[in-house]
Amino acid sequence: LERITISGQSYNSEILIGEKWINFRKYISGKKAVIITDDNLHYHYSDRFQDIPFLILAQGENNKNLESVNRLAVSLLDKGIDRGGFILGIGGGVVCDVAGFLASVYMRGIKFGFVSTSLLSMVDASVGGKNGVNVDRVKNIIGTFNQPEFVICDPAMLKTLPEEEYVSGLAELIKHGTIRNPELFAMIENGSELIMNRDPSLLEKLITISVRIKSEIVMADEKEEGKRMLLNFGHTFGHAIEAHSGLKHGFAVAAGMMIAADISVESGILSPGDRKRLFDLLNRFTLLKKYSISFGEMKELVMHDKKKTGNDVNFVMLEGLGKPIVRKIPIEKLLENYLSIINKQ
Ligand SMILES: NC(=O)c1ccc[n+]([C@@H]2O[C@H](COP(=O)([O-])OP(=O)(O)OC[C@H]3O[C@@H](n4cnc5c(N)ncnc54)[C@H](O)[C@@H]3O)[C@@H](O)[C@H]2O)c1
Repeated sequence: LERITISGQSYNSEILIGEKWINFRKYISGKKAVIITDDNLHYHYSDRFQDIPFLILAQGENNKNLESVNRLAVSLLDKGIDRGGFILGIGGGVVCDVAGFLASVYMRGIKFGFVSTSLLSMVDASVGGKNGVNVDRVKNIIGTFNQPEFVICDPAMLKTLPEEEYVSGLAELIKHGTIRNPELFAMIENGSELIMNRDPSLLEKLITISVRIKSEIVMADEKEEGKRMLLNFGHTFGHAIEAHSGLKHGFAVAAGMMIAADISVESGILSPGDRKRLFDLLNRFTLLKKYSISFGEMKELVMHDKKKTGNDVNFVMLEGLGKPIVRKIPIEKLLENYLSIINKQ
């Protein structure tokens, strides 16, 4: 069991990696708790929490919205949950976002924790204290910064995760190695077979390193004003590809990471050798899928990226594995670079 403490501005959050999920009772004892989960997790795991009141969200991104928050808030009132109540989200990023957001605004904020069940939520979504829901089709546009009291990451739960979701989560793990830790990158290269077999003990090690990387960055920059931008590696183009092609997040980020690596090679700051290592690793996990997006569509989507400031984007490039740099680039210039690399393909 590894414990990583995230000290946020208002709360401390404890990430427990390798804790058995069923031990969640230890962390909510004495609290008036309600579980929020989705129908899929309910199907797999609810026989182990029948004794605790629970609320079910329909699975999927389409339910990460204010209507769900409203419906769940009504149910919390019905169950008599007051300011002393506690919400335990058991699920992937969608459940964690909805449960964390609801807990942050219900009665102006009650305490909450997560059992994080997907690889993406273990290495990314439940670390960092961001909780948001979508409005219309704009993602995470209403949200809060607020830390859960604890997050349990039990790699054994990944056994039931659908294959595509698992592989998608690997992209964020690889991203953390690429921007921060060449040793993590090499461990993923060397352990690919065990990783595909979802070996819980190797996964515990990889998730621990990955959470440490994200938590160090988040603690240095809780409100996303500086260092946290590094986490956007692969996301400027990745978000556009995700929105347009419907690829799952991790597959779109993998494509975005290759575009950023190609632009870095074009600009003469990244060696073709390091670019090839990234390409080979993403490819080994079948993360590089075909997608088609015209230059005009890409331009439109990148222009509307919510992370841009004025006409510039803070674009994360690579000088090597573990050596990211953020460059403030005019969008027009970035799109010229993009055009030049796609014309060579
Ligand atoms: N708040 C943040 O900082 C942050 C960061 C990254 C991503 N996110 C959000 O996270 C969401 C994506 O997270 P996700 O990929 O976990 O999606 P998800 O919660 O929709 O889970 C994906 C699917 O896997 C199923 N699932 C999850 N764990 C399972 C398990 N152990 N066994 C069987 N099935 C399981 C779910 O039921 C769902 O169908 C997005 O909405 C994204 O915006 C938030």
